[in-house]
Amino acid sequence: MNAQRKRTAILISGRGSNMRALIEAARVPSFPAEIVLVLSNRPDAAGLGFAKENGIATAVIDHKIHAGREDFERSMQVMLELHRIDYICLAGFMRMLTPWFVGQWEGRMLNIHPALLPAYRGLHTHERALADGVKIHGCTVHFVVPAVDEGPIIAQAAVPVLDSDTPDTLARRVLNEEHIIYPAALARLASGKVWIEGNRVFTGDPHKEAPPLRVP
Ligand code: GRF
Repeated sequence: MNAQRKRTAILISGRGSNMRALIEAARVPSFPAEIVLVLSNRPDAAGLGFAKENGIATAVIDHKIHAGREDFERSMQVMLELHRIDYICLAGFMRMLTPWFVGQWEGRMLNIHPALLPAYRGLHTHERALADGVKIHGCTVHFVVPAVDEGPIIAQAAVPVLDSDTPDTLARRVLNEEHIIYPAALARLASGKVWIEGNRVFTGDPHKEAPPLRVP
């Protein structure tokens, strides 16, 4: 096994299909990151089962039993430090993070959002895209900054919006793309070839054009 693999934690609150895609990708020994911890703020998060079945350490830090947001985040930070985490992937983690916590993980924490940012920040992205009549929708992996659903973009994938689409069918096609770009983005980050200038993320040799991550 590659001793240099980056120790990565996935933070979830629910289903965990992106978590699963990341775990599956990281099974390949040459993948530059290793998933060593799945942390949930909800004891009933469905994704915890898959992580346990796959021999990955799990932790529940229930926000409801903490005095406040900072208390909750300090508990998470202790757990992350205990596991010597290099990178964090937020995957359907439904808690707002304070600037303090985000600051601890600057340049080392990714999130996946089900829209082509900067369009459709926030919730109900598929419904809103359909209501606006856009013809292209998609998903984004970005670095986490204190402002919600902002931060330098590392990967995006687009899907066409079909006349027959409902929020569910559109969500499903976007989710398929999420499962492709999230592991690809983590691999890029963990390989150490990524740097950020302003809002732009660059990869590889600065004199060569990096191949796009998923523009189907
Ligand atoms: C995904 O649509 C992701 O883009 C968003 O939350 C959802 C999580 O789904 N941030 P899952 O738990 O990964 O299945």
